[in-house]
Amino acid sequence: MEQDLSISDYKHLVRPEDYKKIVFFTGAGMSAESGVPTYRGKGGTWEKYNWEKYACQEAFDRNPDKVMDFHEVRRKSVLECSPHAGHEMIANLALKKKSEVRIVTQNIDGMHQRAGSKDVIELHGSLWKLRCPVHGVIEDIGHVFTARKCGKCDNRLRPDIVWFGDSLNREVIEEGVGAIATCDLFISIGTSGVVWPAAGFPEVAKKNGARCIEINPEPSAMSAMYETTIQGTAGKVLPILFVP
Ligand code: OAD
Repeated sequence: MEQDLSISDYKHLVRPEDYKKIVFFTGAGMSAESGVPTYRGKGGTWEKYNWEKYACQEAFDRNPDKVMDFHEVRRKSVLECSPHAGHEMIANLALKKKSEVRIVTQNIDGMHQRAGSKDVIELHGSLWKLRCPVHGVIEDIGHVFTARKCGKCDNRLRPDIVWFGDSLNREVIEEGVGAIATCDLFISIGTSGVVWPAAGFPEVAKKNGARCIEINPEPSAMSAMYETTIQGTAGKVLPILFVP
């Protein structure tokens, strides 16, 4: 049965102890109320910046400093934002241990971790990691990149983010799909559902019999996959969705 819920209907809709494993599947809308812009639509990152100039390997090969400068601007703006009540609710639910909680996110902003979540699968990489083609990935937290070249081999470091045209990390995808295929409650928050393979993840959950709930103020490309869609924002819905 499909349900389309308005704000008065979803308070205490979910009893966490009814589920063994809960997956929160998040996209840019999850961080919107923290002040981090989404990608698509009015005021979105890809409206303001042409990804062909800032978010693909070709752009980095052409002008690495321009691409690194763009990512420093993004780091600065994310550092000026803070996790909201929705991020905190997810982190607290994991601490209560009534169910196993996993987060599978398309976000690179690290906001779930800043709210205290530990088990975060980052499908599209992280704004807080750099990658050397020879020596692999290093953490690098702060507004300005600590270095733009590898200290061991002098190669250029690039953000460890899945840019347009990049392949996703196979192990990370397998971990995400594995978590989703074994969950009994799948809650999608703030994704337009147009970027693959992540857009196919609701189907994985549904096929395996999980209860599927979507939280988004607008219909997404994948709304039809969900038995319940809640038209609301992450910061308003998440703090009251679960029975305390
Ligand atoms: P999009 O920008 O495509 O979609 C954001 C979604 O969030 C839309 O469906 C909005 O309706 C919804 N939204 C907005 N405000 C919200 C709020 N307060 N609460 C809940 N939902 C809200 O972002 P993604 O779907 O995450 O990839 O985009 C997927 C990928 O495309 C990103 O990871 C990024 C981008 O190119 C890379 O950079 C690799």
